[in-house]
Amino acid sequence: MRTIVSTATLWVVCLALTLANSAIAASGSSKLERGKYLVEQVGMCGDCHTPHNEKGEPIQEKTLRGAILPFKPAVPMPVWADKSPNIAGLPGWEDKDAIRFLMTGIAYNDLPARPPMPQYRFNQEDAAAIMAYLRSLGPAQAEGYPRK
Ligand code: HEC
Repeated sequence: MRTIVSTATLWVVCLALTLANSAIAASGSSKLERGKYLVEQVGMCGDCHTPHNEKGEPIQEKTLRGAILPFKPAVPMPVWADKSPNIAGLPGWEDKDAIRFLMTGIAYNDLPARPPMPQYRFNQEDAAAIMAYLRSLGPAQAEGYPRK
């Protein structure tokens, strides 16, 4: 009886350790998954930052590499950007500036980006997740981000 109990206890301890371990491993990748979801399903960044082919489909190999926008404002706009920059890897952006930009719409030069770039108001956690995901798309890979 004694042996059965201690075997069961050992098993429970092992299970608990395994679960704790996988929770630690998941926290990094779930941040990237959250970032991917926000980029692809909420912010729809690829609508403007990924070039599209003549059928209107995004060109996978050029995901978020910047594009000439296929649309123009219906009325003349004093300020308008007709192309979007490469945001894969977020080249040229310091972490704190990228997070502020995603939380306020204000870029590192203290100015908003020109329309039609939306002025997003993501919270800190979501802004950090988006940044981590964009960094993971390299080329400029930051330390600790997984390679694709
Ligand atoms: C409706 C089109 C559109 C969408 C959607 C969009 N962008 Fe943009 N984005 C632009 C354009 C156009 C520019 C260039 C603005 C400029 O040159 O001033 C830009 C610029 C940027 C810049 C550089 C800003 C600067 O001032 O240098 C970053 C970073 C950026 N976008 C990130 C994102 C992210 C992240 C998302 C999704 C969460 C996103 N964009 C969604 C159109 C868009």
